[in-house]
Amino acid sequence: MGRIGITDTTLRDAHQSLWATRMEIEDMLPIIAQIDAVGYHSLEMWGGATFDVCLRYLREDPWERLRLIKQHAPKTPLQMLLRGQSLVGYSHYPDDVVEAFVHHAVENGIDIIRIFDALNDIRNLEPAMKFTKKAGGLVQATVVYTVSPVHTTEHYLQTAVRLADLGADSLCIKDMAGLLTPYHAYELVKLLKQRLSIPVQLHCHYIGGMAVGAYLKAAEAGIDVVDTASMPLAFGASQPPVETVVRVLEGTEHAPGLNLKKLFEIAEYFEELRKKKGYERGVTRLHDMRVFDHQVPGGMISNLIVQLEEQKALHRLEEVLAEIPRVRAELGYPPLVTPTSQIVGTQAVLNVLAGERYKLVPGEVKNYLMGYYGKAPADLDPGIVRKILGDKQPITDRPGDLLPARLAKMREEIGKEATNEDDVLSYALFPHVSRKFFEARVTGCGRPGPAKKSAQGGVVPGNTAKEAEDSMNLEEIRELIKLLDQTDVSEFSMESQGIRITIKKGKCGVEVTQPVEAIPKANAAAVEAAPDVPEAGTNASADEDSATVVSPMVGTFYRTSGPDAQPYVELGDTVQPGQALCIIEAMKLMNEIEADSAGVVSAILVENGHPVEYGQPLFVITKKKT
Ligand code: CO
Repeated sequence: MGRIGITDTTLRDAHQSLWATRMEIEDMLPIIAQIDAVGYHSLEMWGGATFDVCLRYLREDPWERLRLIKQHAPKTPLQMLLRGQSLVGYSHYPDDVVEAFVHHAVENGIDIIRIFDALNDIRNLEPAMKFTKKAGGLVQATVVYTVSPVHTTEHYLQTAVRLADLGADSLCIKDMAGLLTPYHAYELVKLLKQRLSIPVQLHCHYIGGMAVGAYLKAAEAGIDVVDTASMPLAFGASQPPVETVVRVLEGTEHAPGLNLKKLFEIAEYFEELRKKKGYERGVTRLHDMRVFDHQVPGGMISNLIVQLEEQKALHRLEEVLAEIPRVRAELGYPPLVTPTSQIVGTQAVLNVLAGERYKLVPGEVKNYLMGYYGKAPADLDPGIVRKILGDKQPITDRPGDLLPARLAKMREEIGKEATNEDDVLSYALFPHVSRKFFEARVTGCGRPGPAKKSAQGGVVPGNTAKEAEDSMNLEEIRELIKLLDQTDVSEFSMESQGIRITIKKGKCGVEVTQPVEAIPKANAAAVEAAPDVPEAGTNASADEDSATVVSPMVGTFYRTSGPDAQPYVELGDTVQPGQALCIIEAMKLMNEIEADSAGVVSAILVENGHPVEYGQPLFVITKKKT
């Protein structure tokens, strides 16, 4: 036992937990040299959501960010968070992509990779661990902490021992929901230190305030490293503040030995930045304190609030929070962390909004039940599995074994649009988002403003730019921007085929003013007659002969299941009840919308890739005369 090391999470987890991951590299660079001089054990500054957010919202190259931070912080080891086989995405990638990504991350400056799997399914950590070691990086294997009938102390110990046997250089206990009580922290760390010969690190979120106590008791039990954030990005859904943890341990054998004066200088910088950008402090709300009832991590509550606000159903938050533990038990008690937090959270939202449990089931939930995310910690509810999967048999293999190598195909697909290996890997992970990023890099168009604040003070990701750009003709827009720059005109609007494009100096916006797909005249009246907000998920019957299928949620409308797939239905197709008509992408999940009645598709009212509102008519199905 002795001095405790501290990992600073300010540049990754802290702003992911409090500022919707919106800190940009320009905000980091002025302070990185000072952070580097503190003497931290490591800086967690990459991975998790930062990669996706860089490309999707900040229009910043995540690889460039990594290299710049390395340049400015040459002394302190850099650390990233990796979601096992899902890397920094939301579903599994094939092993060849995992290897290339991990290798490139280490090559560009990452020293330590913290690898976890949402289900603690070791098969999902093994390849990333192996490839990290092969690339010369340090592996920090992780056990995700949660509370459930199957998550016993023995479960954690066994998992940890197996990870150490696989060659982990250190072990992390990841308490993303702030559920770890100080005395359980003591017990767990004590036993882990007895059984393992590698360093043990504790990662807690502050939430209800137990984290400081947990760190103190863990220190007494021999923890090697703990995670903290600079004070303006601490508390609430984030980590405990470094200033407090350093002071708590001062004068003891565990004292981290960091200079508080230096820490406060850094805190002042982030406080100014926070005020300038208008971000909230980390606060604890009543819902957060009730985490033991619903077990929903703080970041996930912010997401739920955003989702429900989007769905204009914020008043139903209580019902959703009550539904989450039910869904979680039925799905075999997955710990709630990306991506299982989205899977469970969204299913709970849909169960509440649709007015019938498991009436709407996103593809991700089906895949989860099929075993494509790995093995659930406990048995799944057989009734729910039967209802959703029917006769389909879940897999028992490691999910990654079923994924064919993909990197060569992706490399070929993106071709010359990729300017280097960074781009190839970004594209392999997020094809759609990366392509937009590459295009925007050329035009300089589409960089959205800072995230908006929600009514509850949470941060709402500004995703309208992503939706809008789907329908832009870039050549035309480039020309228009050039023209606009040469004039005194600050704004220009044009409308064609129901799409209005507005270009302001340095900004683009696109809006759909009317459905593009032709509406047969006979049905136009029916569409207008459809009520504005019908019962979610039901067909609003406009007249005797036809039914309008409406969107059960706010999201993006897709006529196909993927870029290479055929549309689910075409005009004139005959459909049966239960047949899939389209996908609504909402809450990061793909939700298949099915026909409720038999008939002929007589109108398609939304264009592929366009945003839809709750209750917006999507299709008209004309019933067959019998
Ligand atoms: Co965390």
